[in-house]
Amino acid sequence: MSKPQRHVFVCTQNRPPNHPRGSCAAKNSSAVLQAFWGELQKRNAYETVAITYSGCLGPCDGGPNVLVYPEGVLYSGVSPADVPEIFTSHLEGGVVVERLVAPEAAWS
Ligand code: FES
Repeated sequence: MSKPQRHVFVCTQNRPPNHPRGSCAAKNSSAVLQAFWGELQKRNAYETVAITYSGCLGPCDGGPNVLVYPEGVLYSGVSPADVPEIFTSHLEGGVVVERLVAPEAAWS
């Protein structure tokens, strides 16, 4: 396996119903993960992009959350429909999709 240019972490954390923090899994993050894997396959981008599911990334309120390295960009409220744009713009083109970037307040 070659070293990827970008590594995507999709939060698939689950929590019990009515948990105060909620979870990305309850907001359909598994569909987001499937969309990333689908794009990876469609674009045959295995040499340049890695997709990994993860536990909680921190700011659960804004989920589904997706973290992209090496830039350390956190996208929030990501839907499966957003995934092709993230792939084309950021993962392949290096241009962050600003409209999906988590607000600074997400970290407070
Ligand atoms: S549950 Fe996804 S960021 Fe916390």
